Amino acid sequence: MSARILNGNAIRDQIYAELEHQISSLGAAGIRPGLAAVLVGDNPASKLYVNSKIAACRKLGLESFFITPPAAISTEELLRIIKELNERGDVDGILVQMPLPPQIDSKKILEAVDPSKDVDGFHPVNVGKLVAGRPSLVACTPAGVMEILRRSEIPVEGANAVVVGRSDIVGKPMALLLLHANATVTICHSKTRDLPATVRRADIVVAAIGRPAMVTPDFIQPGAAVIDVGQNVVTSAAAAENIFRNFPEKLESFRAKGSVLVGDCHPDVVQTAGAFTPVPGGVGPLTIAMLMSNTVRAARLRRGAAATATGVPVHETASASRGAHAVPSGTQAAKS
Ligand code: GUN
Repeated sequence: MSARILNGNAIRDQIYAELEHQISSLGAAGIRPGLAAVLVGDNPASKLYVNSKIAACRKLGLESFFITPPAAISTEELLRIIKELNERGDVDGILVQMPLPPQIDSKKILEAVDPSKDVDGFHPVNVGKLVAGRPSLVACTPAGVMEILRRSEIPVEGANAVVVGRSDIVGKPMALLLLHANATVTICHSKTRDLPATVRRADIVVAAIGRPAMVTPDFIQPGAAVIDVGQNVVTSAAAAENIFRNFPEKLESFRAKGSVLVGDCHPDVVQTAGAFTPVPGGVGPLTIAMLMSNTVRAARLRRGAAATATGVPVHETASASRGAHAVPSGTQAAKS
């Protein structure tokens, strides 16, 4: 049996339709939410990601500001840019694309972003609010995964959820969101003993390790929902031939382009899982959708009465509120 494919592009389009409604209400109140994207240097992958984020702003009618300091910029100079963006009234959201060059103190930069403009949800204030189960701006990829689960009607409450990977950007916030949604959560990492057996206990697997095709079908309980966060570019012909031996059209595309995008899950997982996010077209589109959602939400919270008089309560909607920005109902009542 082949898994139900969870179409991230279709879910993103649903979220955009909901956001468009809010953005036009804000527009009627004279407010155009603005996102500032800071891309240091010329890392090609980062450039591609940031260009997609700017394109999404344009598509939705959000204002965008693209700041591109040179790779050699110092921490102090970058801090000055962040300070200026914090002070600007037309900037509601600030994202500093990671990773930053090695001479930059990344922690200092992330902590310098005004928490009310921290649309990436990386600031310790927002991370702390997430831990405490208080509404906050939540990291976009984990928030997007919760949207996929909710909108695909995959039950989370009471489920065994296993998150593979413990990064600050995905693994840790992901585990907290699942916990707040009343899943029983296990976080696996490089020191986990018997990784396949641990992951096999999962009703929901979130793979976020950054290693191509590492989660193989023997890790997966038949029927489990498998969410693949990985986006790895494979350029080795031997690796591509091995990973995609059952997917001739992918191999054809690899031979034509010399590279292929591979998730953290082996594509053969589709034969064992009950539901599966493809790469590309699964989690990726949701990361950007949640960035847009966070920007609209930040604008509504920052700009006060005019922005909240748009008919949609900020704490309840912003497209993804249940399970993403806000902690889902029932969480506060859960005692342990
Ligand atoms: N680098 C990889 N993922 C992300 C993300 O979600 N936000 C930012 N700012 N940088 C990233």
